[in-house]
Amino acid sequence: MRLHEFPRHPLTFGPSPVHPLDRLSDHLGGARVWAKREDVSSGLAYGGNKVRKLEYIVPDVLAQGADTLVSIGGVQSNHTRQVAAVAAHLGLSCRLVQEKWVPWDDPVNDKVGNILLSRIMGADVRLDPAGFDIGIRTSWEDAIREVEESGGRPYGIPAGASEHPLGGLGFANWAFEVAEQEKQLGVHFDTVVVCTVTGSTHAGMIAGFAALEELTGVRRRVIGIDASATIDRTRDQVARIARHTAELIELGRDLRDDEIEVLEGWAGDRYGIPVDSTMEAISLSGRLEAMIIDPVYEGKSMAGLVDLVRDGEIPKGSTVLYAHLGGQQALNAYHSLWPAS
Ligand SMILES: Cc1ncc(COP(=O)(O)O)c(C=O)c1O
Repeated sequence: MRLHEFPRHPLTFGPSPVHPLDRLSDHLGGARVWAKREDVSSGLAYGGNKVRKLEYIVPDVLAQGADTLVSIGGVQSNHTRQVAAVAAHLGLSCRLVQEKWVPWDDPVNDKVGNILLSRIMGADVRLDPAGFDIGIRTSWEDAIREVEESGGRPYGIPAGASEHPLGGLGFANWAFEVAEQEKQLGVHFDTVVVCTVTGSTHAGMIAGFAALEELTGVRRRVIGIDASATIDRTRDQVARIARHTAELIELGRDLRDDEIEVLEGWAGDRYGIPVDSTMEAISLSGRLEAMIIDPVYEGKSMAGLVDLVRDGEIPKGSTVLYAHLGGQQALNAYHSLWPAS
């Protein structure tokens, strides 16, 4: 297994904390649920899942002598905020394309939350009217070219860092971190639940847990809950990145189809727009655990977890690890969901 041979530029405070969600578990009355908290694991502008992916991409940025990170996402992208944070931390410039991925017309949507933080960190933030798409975007390719034409040395990081060849490594490493923490805590997680959109978080986990299975013989279920509402594209992207990452780390076998499980049913009709199950999940998580989750990503994956545990689709004897990938910064733009009384 080659994972440890890839250079990694540490950006986190160390392993992200793992803790039980006892009140939520009691409320659901089924499997026991724990959380692993990417939302509190990095000192860079509130962190989140992209920091881990970027730990494996930064060595390539530095090796290439780039001076500007160029990335893309929606107006309230957590990813672009984390790219801006890493650029500031490394002393690089940052150019961001923020597309209108979500038809959310709150007057402060392009002023607060993630986009505000990116501006504070000095990123050159440009709004673009294009809609949602998890693939490679011409607006991003144009931005890379513009930086080059103005004499800069750009390094392109695609949406969610997912289409980057090294994008899956951060969460392959996460799987090994989980195995270490299981030993320390004396617990075994037979099921992992994670939100998936651009795919490399879930894909990296699949490759990492497959590598662990090769070493230990222990199988687990790694369930991705789609929040893209474009399920076929996300499923394909997860499968492709998982297989690519498995190859990179020299897993030594093909991934089985049953290892790639992306479930639909909680995304609603559109990326970025919460539905009733999202709102219930946000409320349960907040009221029972003081664990704040957002309406775009984690509210949807938590809604999936709630139903799967409540209905026994994840069996009662299971111990589930919920991957909290961050994202609370967007909540400011969604304030109208909780009107002041
Ligand atoms: C908070 C949060 N959760 C989940 C995801 C989904 O991760 P991925 O795009 O790697 O599938 C993202 C980013 O897209 C995110 O910012």
